[in-house]
Amino acid sequence: MSLKITEKLWLGKLTTPLPDRRRPIYNWFLMKESFSRDLVLLLAETWNLGKENLVLDPFSGTGTTPLACREAGINCVGYEVHPALLLAARVKLRDYNLEELREKVASFLKGEFERREAEVPGFVARVFPQAVLEEIISAREKILEMDDESTREFLLLGLSNAAMRCSWAHKDGAAIKVVKKPVPPLFPELSRQLRRMCGDLEKFRGKGSRSWVEFCDARRMKLPDSSVDAVITSPPYLGKNEYISAYRIEQWIMGIEGPAPGDLIGSGGGNFSEVVDLMGDKPKETWGYFGDVFQVIKEINRVCKEGANVCVVVSDGCFPDGPVEVCSTLCELAEKAGLKAKSIVIVNKRYCTTPTRRKIGITKEGLLFWKKPAA
Ligand SMILES: C[S@@+](CC[C@H](N)C(=O)[O-])C[C@H]1O[C@@H](n2cnc3c(N)ncnc32)[C@H](O)[C@@H]1O
Repeated sequence: MSLKITEKLWLGKLTTPLPDRRRPIYNWFLMKESFSRDLVLLLAETWNLGKENLVLDPFSGTGTTPLACREAGINCVGYEVHPALLLAARVKLRDYNLEELREKVASFLKGEFERREAEVPGFVARVFPQAVLEEIISAREKILEMDDESTREFLLLGLSNAAMRCSWAHKDGAAIKVVKKPVPPLFPELSRQLRRMCGDLEKFRGKGSRSWVEFCDARRMKLPDSSVDAVITSPPYLGKNEYISAYRIEQWIMGIEGPAPGDLIGSGGGNFSEVVDLMGDKPKETWGYFGDVFQVIKEINRVCKEGANVCVVVSDGCFPDGPVEVCSTLCELAEKAGLKAKSIVIVNKRYCTTPTRRKIGITKEGLLFWKKPAA
C-alpha cells in the first residue's frame, strides 16, 4: 500500500458542525458528531460531481451530505439506523408545498392547548420546569394526532428544537446535566421556531436533484452493484458512542423509540473473524468495531462504480493504554476489500488522556481518500 500522509489542520473546522450553526435548514438539528456542508461541497467540486452522479453516505446522521448534495444539484442517498436522526434528516430533505405548510403551521399554532400532566421518564422530568413539560405534552399530543406525516414530522422537529431551548438540559458528551436557570415559556418559542423553519425553506434553493435518506444498516446496503459515483461519509468513531443516548430527550419529544443496539456499528460484539490478521496489539474490545466497519467497506466496494472516489472522515481511538490507530487501519481494511487507499489528510490532532487527564499520546482525525480501481 503506497499511502500518502499529509497534514492540513486548517481543514479541521470542516469536520465539525460549527460552520453550519447559523445555516438555514442544516441547523434544524445539529449533532456534535456531524461534519459540515462545506466539506461536502469542497469534495463534490474537487471530484467534479454533477447532476448525472449519485453520491452515497452510508452513515448520514442528520443529513448533511444529502442536503449539501441537493444544494449542489447532485443526487444522493443517505442511510441511517437512528430513528430520531433519520426523522431530522427526512424533515430537512422533504419537498414542501410552502403555502400549504404555512397554513397548517398557522392553524396548529392557533389551536387550543390545554396544559396536560402525564407520567414521563425521570430523565425528561428532571430537565424541564413543570409548566414547560405540561405544554410539551399537550403540543405533542396534538401533533401526534395528525394524519399527514410530512406536517407531523415538521412540527415534531420544531417542537423538539424549541423545547430544548426551554429546558435546563446541558449536554456534556453522553451525560445530560441539569443547569437550573430561567427559561422562556414554550409556546412563543415554538411559534418563532416554526415560522423560522418556514422562512428557511423559502431561502433554500435546491437544483432539482434527488436526495433522500432511508432506514438501512450500512453493513447491508440496499443499492445494486456498481451504482454509486462517490462516497462521502463518517462512521461512528471508535469508543465514542455518546450519540446513542445523547439525543434521548429529543427522541422522547418526537415520540419515537431509540435505535436497536445491534443496529449500531461498534455497539455489540461485532464479527471480527475477517479482520483479526490486522488487529496486531489493539485492545480486544476494539476488534468488533473494526469487524463491523469492514462489512461496510466491503459494501462500499460493491456498490461503487469503477473510478468512484471515497472520502471517510474518522478519528483514532483513545483507550486506557493509549491511542488506537483507526485512520491507517481503515485504509488497510479498504485495500483488503479491494479499494485503493490513496491518502490520509490529517485535519485534527488531540491529546489522548487517562480519566485523570494524564496525556498518553496523540489521536489524529483524518480524511481518508480511497478509489475503486478499474477491474
Ligand atoms: C459520525 S455520525 C455521522 C454524522 C453525519 N455525517 C452528519 O453530518 O450528520 C455516524 C452515524 O452513523 C450512524 N450509524 C451507526 N451504525 C449504523 C449502521 N449500522 N448503519 C447506518 N448508520 C449507522 C449513527 O447513528 C450516526 O448517526
